[in-house]
Amino acid sequence: MSALPIIEMRKIDKHFGAVHALRNIDFHLMPGEILGLVGDNSAGKSTLMKVLTGAYQRDSGDVLVDGKITHFRSPQDSRDLGMEMIYQDFALCGNMDVGQNIFLGRWPRHFGLFVNRPKMYAEANAVLKRLKVDVNSVFQKVESLSGGRQQSVAIARAISFNPRVVIFDEPTANLSVMATERLLETMTELKRQGVAQVIISHRLTDIFAVGDRVMVLKRGQVVGDRYVRHTTEREVLELIVSGTAETALTAEQAAPKAA
Ligand SMILES: Nc1ncnc2c1ncn2[C@@H]1O[C@H](COP(=O)(O)OP(=O)(O)OP(=O)(O)O)[C@@H](O)[C@H]1O
Ligand SMILES: [Mg+2]
Repeated sequence: MSALPIIEMRKIDKHFGAVHALRNIDFHLMPGEILGLVGDNSAGKSTLMKVLTGAYQRDSGDVLVDGKITHFRSPQDSRDLGMEMIYQDFALCGNMDVGQNIFLGRWPRHFGLFVNRPKMYAEANAVLKRLKVDVNSVFQKVESLSGGRQQSVAIARAISFNPRVVIFDEPTANLSVMATERLLETMTELKRQGVAQVIISHRLTDIFAVGDRVMVLKRGQVVGDRYVRHTTEREVLELIVSGTAETALTAEQAAPKAA
C-alpha cells in the first residue's frame, strides 16, 4: 500500500449562515481503504463529503488529491480525478430505464447523433455484472424498482466512471438484510479492485463488517479516528454520544503497522 493518501483534507471549515457545520477538520483516505464516517444527525458527515467532491465550497482549508491541492468547483471536477459520490437520495431519473440512468448525460451515439442503444445496454449490463448485482433488466424503468435495486443502479452509474474513490452516503438506511449483505459484498469487491471508499452510516455493524478505519464527527468536529481492529462498536457509540474534539490520525500515524 502506498504511504501517500489518495485524499487529504486539512483544516476544513464550513458555515451555512449561522450554522458552523465543519470546524477545522483534518481527514485522509488511503488507496484501497474503506473508511466509515459516523456521527449523530447534523454532525456534518454529508457536508464534509460534499466539500470533498466540490458539491459545496469550503470557507477555508485545503483539499489534496494525490498530494496536490485542488479546487473543485463542482462534482464534475472531482469526477475528472476519479471520485464518485452516491447521495442519500440516489439522484436518479425515475421515468428513465436502468441503462439510460447509468449513462445519463453521456449516452453513446452513432455518428454523434442517434443514441447507440445496443452499445448503451450492453455496457450497462457489463457494469452490473462487474458489480455482481442483480437488476432484472436494463430496460426496466427505475421508478418501478425496489429501493435496493435503485441503489444498485446508482452504484452502477458511479462505477461506470471507473472511479478510484467512491463515497456512499447512508447506503444501507433503506435496505433489507439481504440487500445490505449484497452491498457490503459489492464494497469488498471494489476494495479488491483497489477502489478506496467512504461509507457514511448510522449502522455500526455495517462499518465493522467491511471498514478498515472509522472516523467520528460530532457537531462539525472530529471526536474520534480509530482502526476498526483497535476499537469496538461500544467505544465508537460512546464517541458518537459523548466524544470531545480530538485530532484525527495523520496519514503517518494511520499507516498500517506490520501485522
Ligand atoms: N445546504 C445546506 N444549507 C444550509 N444548512 C445546511 C446545508 N447542508 C447542511 N446544512 C447544515 O449543516 C449541518 C450538518 O449537516 P449534514 O447534512 O452534513 O449532517 P449529517 O451528519 O450528514 O447528518 P444526517 O445523519 O442527518 O444525514 C446541519 O446543521 C445542517 O442543517
Ligand atoms: Mg447526511
